[in-house]
Amino acid sequence: MLALPAALAAGASAAWAQRGCPPRDDLYCMELVATPAFPAATGIARLGWVPTPFGVAVTPEGEHLYDLTLTLDGLPDPRTLGPYFTYVAWATTPVLRPMLKLGDVRNGVARVGRVGFNKFLILVSAEPSAAVRDRSGPLVLRGASPSMRLQPHDLPILLAAAGGHAETQSRGDAAHGRKSSDGWVPPPMHPGVPMLPGLMGFRPQATPFLPDPGAAGVASPAIPHRFIRLNDGDTLRLEAGPVTRTILGRSYLMYGFNGQYPGPVVEVAQRATIVVDFVNRTALPTAVHWHGVRLDNRFDGVPHVTQEPVAPGERFVYHVHFPDAGIYWYHPHHREDIQQDLGLYGNLFVRPTDPDYFAPAHRDEILMLDDLLIGEAGLVPYGLEAATHALNGRFGNVLLVNGEPRYELEVRRGEVIRFFLTNASSTRVFNLSFPDARMKIVGSDLGNYEREEWTENVVIAPAERYIVDVRFESAGRVPLVNRVHALDKVFGNFVALVDTLGLVRVARRPARPDLSAGFDHLRENDDVAAEIARYRVHFDRPPDRELELTVRLGDIPFPIDPLVRMDSLYFHPVEWSGTMPEMNWVTTARQVRWVVRDVATGAENDAIDWRFHVGDLVRLRLRNQRHAGHAMQHPIHIHGQRFLVLSVNGVANPNRVWKDTVLLPVGVTAELLVELSNPGRWMLHCHIAEHLSAGMAMVFEVS
Ligand code: C2O
Ligand code: CU
Repeated sequence: MLALPAALAAGASAAWAQRGCPPRDDLYCMELVATPAFPAATGIARLGWVPTPFGVAVTPEGEHLYDLTLTLDGLPDPRTLGPYFTYVAWATTPVLRPMLKLGDVRNGVARVGRVGFNKFLILVSAEPSAAVRDRSGPLVLRGASPSMRLQPHDLPILLAAAGGHAETQSRGDAAHGRKSSDGWVPPPMHPGVPMLPGLMGFRPQATPFLPDPGAAGVASPAIPHRFIRLNDGDTLRLEAGPVTRTILGRSYLMYGFNGQYPGPVVEVAQRATIVVDFVNRTALPTAVHWHGVRLDNRFDGVPHVTQEPVAPGERFVYHVHFPDAGIYWYHPHHREDIQQDLGLYGNLFVRPTDPDYFAPAHRDEILMLDDLLIGEAGLVPYGLEAATHALNGRFGNVLLVNGEPRYELEVRRGEVIRFFLTNASSTRVFNLSFPDARMKIVGSDLGNYEREEWTENVVIAPAERYIVDVRFESAGRVPLVNRVHALDKVFGNFVALVDTLGLVRVARRPARPDLSAGFDHLRENDDVAAEIARYRVHFDRPPDRELELTVRLGDIPFPIDPLVRMDSLYFHPVEWSGTMPEMNWVTTARQVRWVVRDVATGAENDAIDWRFHVGDLVRLRLRNQRHAGHAMQHPIHIHGQRFLVLSVNGVANPNRVWKDTVLLPVGVTAELLVELSNPGRWMLHCHIAEHLSAGMAMVFEVS
């Protein structure tokens, strides 16, 4: 008998019970509770970060993946419980199906494998042997995933209290999705998630804005983007102005660059410099930012930081130099929530100097992902004085690839297509896959990874870029899909959402030349790895700076206010589809202030005053506060520089790439190594357009 004396076992379990899950970590930790028969047993399960080339690891279906570590204590010798010789840990869903065997466990710490369930239970049972396939022995410990904390009664109770008050306000025409007399078009309901009746009748506290057909004159129909190849020293004339767009059979007055959607794809050689003669023919002041390009600070296109805004009718000349190969993009840096959303964005493709930088592919395809919010009466207007949708950002209900709701591509059998993906949406994180095609991840924001990896899906946050090679092996049709699980906060359910963004038709005729041998081989990019190795000495030192990502909630009307502050409940690490459209819509940037806070000084947003020197390597810790009243993921972007993601939640990144934007899911801490190679005053901000409008930005200086 190896069992501890009862008193000692009880002491140990008390210690564990006291330790439990740290509150700050409650989204990534679960307490295991003893069954009444074995009260001395205790344990916790840590939901560890799964290394991924992307911002977060999810299955192609969109369920979050975790590496589980169990810490168990107080388990008696199993033989004292009957004919049992071991303990086995299991993971299962709330309906106990499927029952996934994690493996045999004992007192102590053990990594037990990976789970990918939205809601799950962890069970520990005594079993006759470690080889059992099904659970038959007595249950000793069990615990529920943090996602099970949201219960169906939580929100309805809050609303019941408010119902009488809010219901008295009529939605009038708006209840049927028509434009109401105040000019607003309410957002449509979320598919599959009920609307909260108590929220009807509220309006954003702002003047509705859409491009004015009167002022726009005759806006001509936009055409699909064109490719422009520019040589060093060439000039691009770029005009932002009104266009008409036809989407799903209805036409809208929007904005476009050079009358195109998206804007022209500009192809240049690495190390080229081009001149962009920009003219603003929109109704709003603006400036053009060259996202990810480490250019001269004077041309970074940030109003009031690097230049004065370009007033309607005025021009600005940019000199854009491209030191790095890969895929970049340009967009306005003034009220992105309006201007970028209305169609002002385009790609920059920088052809590498090294002809072998990318492995051979038959073709390149450039895809810009976006979404657009369309109500029954047309585009949902924007807030003129302050952004609407300030909580979760403006999720659209029509997903777009290169500005079209349906992307189409014809390929031959065995063809290898290199896709350059950019997410130009205001807030949506996409989880893309091509079922039945093989895909490998090649590059991201500023070029290639240290090594290629097979992947089944691509998670891409706003402003990020990913480069993937996809081989279409057999004839037929392969859809491009976005699959996520949305959290219905009313009932605490997860809802599977599948959107087909496009279709690839694979012909029977084989592609020539045959690139399969090269495709089957995962390249080690020694050039990238060797360059990154020079920074290795900085990988393990403590952080130099720390920013906390949080929020301040202002005067939000009842009953929206308590719905927003669901702090004690649960936030999904990623809000994938904006399941409370009404609550989100009516909350403007006047009522919500998203915050980056310098942990050392307590300074926030524009009050932060960081100064560095060219050549500094700054180890920056970003912590996305989970207990802030309302939490959400933030894609954090740093202008003019590049950085490496060294670790996330303490797990080292095994495959690095230079980035300019990193996704921080709720409650996550990431450590970056930021290389300050480019002098000037640069912005760091959240790339959710509405969070940026709601203050989530700071400026640092490199001299
Ligand atoms: Cu793509 Cu400051 O932005
Ligand atoms: Cu944000």
